Amino acid sequence: MSQVDYTTLIPNNVDLSSDARLQRAMEQWYPKYLDWWNDMGPNGFQGFDVYLRTAVGVDSEGWAKFGYVKMPEYRWGILLAPQVENRKIAFGEHIGEPVWHEVPGEYRAMIRRLCVIQGDTEPASVEQQRYLGETAPSLYDMRNVFQVNVEEGRHLWAMVYMLQKYFGRDGREEAEGLLQRRSGDKDRPRILGAFNEKTPDWVSFFMFTTFTDRDGKMQLESLAQSGFDPLSRTCRFMLTEEGHHMFVGRTGVERIIQRTCQALNENGITDPGDIDKARSLGVVDLPTIQKKINFHYSVTLDLFGAEISTNAANSFNAGIKGRFNEAKIDDDHQLKSDTYPVAQIIDGAVKTQEVPALTAINTRLADDFIGDCESVMKRWNRVFTEQNVDFQLRLPHRAFHRAVGEFSEVRIDPNGNLVTEEEWQLKKNHWLPSNDDLEYILSLMEQEVRPGKFANWIAPPRAGINGQVGDFEYVKLN
Ligand SMILES: [Fe+2]
Ligand SMILES: [Fe+2]
Repeated sequence: MSQVDYTTLIPNNVDLSSDARLQRAMEQWYPKYLDWWNDMGPNGFQGFDVYLRTAVGVDSEGWAKFGYVKMPEYRWGILLAPQVENRKIAFGEHIGEPVWHEVPGEYRAMIRRLCVIQGDTEPASVEQQRYLGETAPSLYDMRNVFQVNVEEGRHLWAMVYMLQKYFGRDGREEAEGLLQRRSGDKDRPRILGAFNEKTPDWVSFFMFTTFTDRDGKMQLESLAQSGFDPLSRTCRFMLTEEGHHMFVGRTGVERIIQRTCQALNENGITDPGDIDKARSLGVVDLPTIQKKINFHYSVTLDLFGAEISTNAANSFNAGIKGRFNEAKIDDDHQLKSDTYPVAQIIDGAVKTQEVPALTAINTRLADDFIGDCESVMKRWNRVFTEQNVDFQLRLPHRAFHRAVGEFSEVRIDPNGNLVTEEEWQLKKNHWLPSNDDLEYILSLMEQEVRPGKFANWIAPPRAGINGQVGDFEYVKLN
């Protein structure tokens, strides 16, 4: 069924009422989820009407309905993309066999772990973003962060459904754990590093949704290839929602760049690298934008895991987690004798070396991610051309500022050269945001909630949400 049943407590298109055990488990989990949402969701905005989209179907067209909703009343639910008839496993040692509709016993632990890791990122980002409403640069932006938040909440539902339906008691315990860990908590942190970083300001939010949600896209794309069909279907639907999150990030940064360029031009400032002059105009200076890219891109690359990984090889072999666009890749989809180039530290320098392709699955996914980020950079750099400002942003080298994998034990500059610890300490504030930079950004964060108005440091968007006019009241604060 492609329409979603909204007559029940839990909206779904998985015929939930036919599985009494599962329905009970989800209904028992729901109030705990709401407690978490009320404690850790957008702080101070739970009682207001927000113009949100809610999925009403899972077809590629016309799946969402827009309307005012108070966030705790959002209709979270269980949505899977339609089943593809006669789908076959597309890679690994079971290639060509029919996909599984139940968890294969031998891969139970592997699938559960993938669901828990994916699931953990979803509430984590809501926790990271919970104070942003207080400093929203416009009602448009405020609505967008809330939209992202309720959908990340639903992505948690998606993974909890997998755990509750297919993993019995263990799954139930994991579902509870997903509500108990907290981003940045000393004792019970979220599982992955980037999801324990702070998102204290809107520049960070837009960078996070550009880079870290894009990691989410890559992970979901590779899980969408899964031979375990329910996992594939749930991830395919999550991807349709993820697109908007990355849009919010990419256009957010684009609007910051646009505003800074306008301010420089209007004031006759010809050196785009002049931090003090840009800051005197109350906009985000371009060197700081570059440093924010360096930071968020590098912590996000860590999410891809070790460059060479037997875990990744095992889940590929098993047919559980594939590659980005697996079906479009022209090879045997088993990688028995293929090799793949992986950057490593060899003789004191970063060099690329061919390794068995099966062990390089993580690197390959990171490469696809990097390619995607390059196209984002092109769009951001286009603003400089349009505005006639002599500046370019770029991605740092993949080995820069890494805490996971091949490069975690060494210091590497944004160009990919090894540097000494001394040099790193000397230059790190040129490469990564300094406390001063972060404080400056925070000083710009003042709430602007008059309909159609925007904070001084960001340009208005090209178009409204769902075709709404410029002064549309996206959040009703009274
Ligand atoms: Fe998500
Ligand atoms: Fe997302």
